[in-house]
Amino acid sequence: MPSQTTDPIIKFDRVNKSFGDLEVLKGLSFEIGAGERVTLIGPSGSGKTTILRLLMTLELVTPVKHPDENGGVIWVEGAPYSHMEKGGKLHVASERYLRQRRQKVGMVFQQFNLFPNMKVLRNVTEAQVHTLKRSKEEAESKARDLLDLVGLSDKVDNYPNQLSGGQQQRVAIARALAMDPDILLLDEVTSALDPELVADVLGVLRDIADTTNITMLIVTHEMGFAKDVSNRVMMFDQGVIVEEDTPDRIFSDPQEVRTQDFLRAVLSE
Ligand SMILES: Nc1ncnc2c1ncn2[C@@H]1O[C@H](COP(=O)(O)OP(=O)(O)OP(=O)(O)O)[C@@H](O)[C@H]1O
Ligand SMILES: [Mg+2]
Repeated sequence: MPSQTTDPIIKFDRVNKSFGDLEVLKGLSFEIGAGERVTLIGPSGSGKTTILRLLMTLELVTPVKHPDENGGVIWVEGAPYSHMEKGGKLHVASERYLRQRRQKVGMVFQQFNLFPNMKVLRNVTEAQVHTLKRSKEEAESKARDLLDLVGLSDKVDNYPNQLSGGQQQRVAIARALAMDPDILLLDEVTSALDPELVADVLGVLRDIADTTNITMLIVTHEMGFAKDVSNRVMMFDQGVIVEEDTPDRIFSDPQEVRTQDFLRAVLSE
């Protein structure tokens, strides 16, 4: 069974998410321990991005009646996250509560989503100054350190459109790390890159995995990377976990037919 030595930093308790009539997550439950690196795999439309977007509060859970008994709640760092406690009961979280809680979660997207009108340095300082209220000097010092870490010290004064895709993605990683997240969400961060740029981005992420204890949730088709970095793989289909195991076991000896079919398809791409 997957090792879990610490209290969960993320807990989905019977979480539902629908878009109109489409039920994407149907009572999904799982736990992630602090410092774990978990890879989510599964066919297109299985709900992987939805899970990350819920954690980023870009989507809201579909409410259930009586969450205290019926769940439908996301917990982060031991406290309700999609909900807030009031009068000893759970209520759907307010915008203000979400804004405060999501500061500890960072996300990197497939499309880098940098601010095109800001230089690289400002892309990495902007949220530090506005959201965390750091001084400009402190934010710039942190940004320079992180841009150095991702190998882009010489690009601080460039605009995003003057960078390669891989460089832009490394800026996006630096920008996420600048907020000192406890949890980093990575959604197919190399899928939009030319093949020769993938290795640099994965190298940076490997370094981060090796040198920090940030909890990472990773959606990727790079099975080699998943194997190197993650301690657990969860296979999704239609919004439920079909199978979960260590990467070694799930990639070499998947037990479920749906996992076998999925891996065969991905590896033959
Ligand atoms: N904003 C939305 N409005 C309506 N339907 C949505 C929305 N976002 C996602 N969906 C639907 O929810 C389902 C799950 O989508 P999701 O993006 O989570 O899948 P995924 O596992 O990330 O797929 P992929 O591997 O293609 O990225 C899909 O059927 C998708 O069409
Ligand atoms: Mg997706």
